[in-house]
Amino acid sequence: MPRISYVEPAGDSRDVEVEPRVSVMRAAILNGVDGIIGECGGQAMCATCHVFVERTDGELPEVGDDEEEMLECTADERLENSRLGCQLRAGDHFDELVVRLPERQV
Ligand code: FES
Repeated sequence: MPRISYVEPAGDSRDVEVEPRVSVMRAAILNGVDGIIGECGGQAMCATCHVFVERTDGELPEVGDDEEEMLECTADERLENSRLGCQLRAGDHFDELVVRLPERQV
């Protein structure tokens, strides 16, 4: 089963196994991982699922137009490895993924 490691800003990390096609945002909510809100439910309309991709074994999809627009609105600074967690799905895009959580989402 695909696995996501969420690294908190302070450095602690939490690994979760996720069903295929579940997004990084949804997996965080389902597993009670703090630091991801997912206010719009995964529609690329809120940017509260901002993550920094540290490592992956997969080929992540290109940043889409909607994602690009939302990444301009992140509460924490956008970096080169910034992505919206709702746009990255286990199995489709990766089997192993390490993401760092931003200091804040709002
Ligand atoms: S959950 Fe709203 S942009 Fe990802």
